[in-house]
Amino acid sequence: MNAIVLLLIAAVPFGVAANQVDPNAAISAFEKKFGVSEGKRRNHTKGLCFVATFTATPEAAKYTVSPIFSGEPIAVVGRFSHPGGNLHSEDAKTKVLGMALDFRYNDIHHKMAMLNVPFFSVPMPEAFVEQLTITPAEREVFKAKYPSVGQFEQALVERVAGSHDYFEQYYNSIHTFYLVNKAKEKQPVRWTFYSQTMQALADRATLNFEQQAEQKLALGPVTMDMIVSFPHESDKLNDPTYQWVTSGERVHFGQLHITGLGADCEPVNFDPTMVSPGFELSDDPVLRFRSPAYAISFGKRLSEAAKLAQKRE
Ligand code: HEM
Repeated sequence: MNAIVLLLIAAVPFGVAANQVDPNAAISAFEKKFGVSEGKRRNHTKGLCFVATFTATPEAAKYTVSPIFSGEPIAVVGRFSHPGGNLHSEDAKTKVLGMALDFRYNDIHHKMAMLNVPFFSVPMPEAFVEQLTITPAEREVFKAKYPSVGQFEQALVERVAGSHDYFEQYYNSIHTFYLVNKAKEKQPVRWTFYSQTMQALADRATLNFEQQAEQKLALGPVTMDMIVSFPHESDKLNDPTYQWVTSGERVHFGQLHITGLGADCEPVNFDPTMVSPGFELSDDPVLRFRSPAYAISFGKRLSEAAKLAQKRE
């Protein structure tokens, strides 16, 4: 095991202390439910890496001192993904997708990992772990305990599985973060990346999502607009199951230009709590829990990948 992996595993107990539920329980629950694809992510196992550039608008710098919003083009490595631990998750059966971004500026890595849904299904990490471990017969009781689970199902009911590829989506931060500007003013925000490429390919029925992405990128970069919103005074800041009413104001923060596939994003941990100066985390318990859970998955898959590589040598 290399030094980085050891360091990561050593870092995990801090996360455990900060949370009531052990993040190891979340990783074990994924492993039990889906099995283990050695060397791969325990969740969002199937994915597609890409390269991109992000350029902020001048508006963004009014809200945050973060260098990724300076207006200079920032290199980004990203990954589209399917939730769950199935490496062969079928595009045609998929309603929920993820998009993760690693903005790279000098030695800063600013991460985002978003979903194409309006809100999260559960409000607390323990509910997330419970959801992974319950039997179908226990689901009704679980839904009565967490009404957001039924609301989440309802929000997706009219989606047609597999009908929109990775680019024909919007991707939502779901959690609240704080932006801090030069005057040290702190502004709670959530954001969404909206794709400008909602047009489906004529022969889409014969192509999987990766092939659709290849064909679209052959025509040129795919652009997504980052739109930031602010809370209405009644909006809850720390509940990821609560969809904001918002103040009504929206600010265009910049554009992500996806230029190609084939980035090396396997050794990237898209932990959304890794943010740049000018960004702060909210106390959303699900957001806080993600960090130690991702670190455990990352540590395991990196050490497995190293062992697999050794075997091949
Ligand atoms: C308790 C809640 C959650 C747990 C335990 C959890 C766990 C995980 C784990 C273990 C991974 C794989 C990490 C790796 O090996 O690098 C992952 C990936 C991911 N998760 Fe979560 N997650 C949670 C909530 C969320 C939420 C709320 C979102 C969206 C707002 C989200 C979006 C993603 C995305 C997009 C990826 C794929 C990142 C990549 O491509 O590497 N997750 N999650």
